[in-house]
Amino acid sequence: MSTYRIAPSILSADFAKLGDEVRAVIDAGADWIHFDVMDNHYVPNLTFGPMVCQALRKHAVKADGTRVPIDVHLMVQPVDALAMAFAEAGADLISFHPDASTHVDRTLQLIRGAGIKCGLVFNPAMPIDVLEWSLDQLDLVLIMSVNPGFGGQSFIAGALRKIEQVKKLIESSGRDIRLEVDGGIKVDNIRRVADAGADTFVAGSAIFGQADYRKVIEAMRASLARG
Ligand code: DX5
Ligand code: ZN
Repeated sequence: MSTYRIAPSILSADFAKLGDEVRAVIDAGADWIHFDVMDNHYVPNLTFGPMVCQALRKHAVKADGTRVPIDVHLMVQPVDALAMAFAEAGADLISFHPDASTHVDRTLQLIRGAGIKCGLVFNPAMPIDVLEWSLDQLDLVLIMSVNPGFGGQSFIAGALRKIEQVKKLIESSGRDIRLEVDGGIKVDNIRRVADAGADTFVAGSAIFGQADYRKVIEAMRASLARG
């Protein structure tokens, strides 16, 4: 059983003080920093790019100096050039939507060739059949439990069945692949999502929407531990 990871999405942080927000959420117990890149083309919203990632890289460290992974979720089309820019900018993991890349295998090879961990992301209505031909190249599969583009949406329950299916595929592959879920994760549903097979949890509004980030992260961990 792999250890759970909590990856706060800075999409819901205060953009006027992102470096401080990254440090605060790491002090509060975050395992990864989830970095949502939106291009106003693949999704109808616009966020931040590689320069912001590069600026935040030095803030994504624990008090003892340990590096905290920056988990880049690309909601962009085309993918390849920006993926390479994020590899240069200090990303530790880069995930993209297979429907946003014309040549998924090439994009995966590019990311892996840069020495960065890579993942594929599946929207709620997207089939996962591409995994049959790509799982051996992946470090992570990210299941969207909302339609991408905005924080603060409600969890789509159909994601649970997809998580169960992907969990089986990962297990039968025998590979060490993280199963991450993104969208509408809260203290009161994280346990159910873990039961379906997820081990890595993105949470934006649930954490940054509260004054005490530590309290939320600890409540999430307590809920996971109860299983
Ligand atoms: C949506 C993003 C998510 C989002 C999650 O496109 O990929 O990471 O920030 O936000 P919450 O946790 O508020 O649903
Ligand atoms: Zn995301």
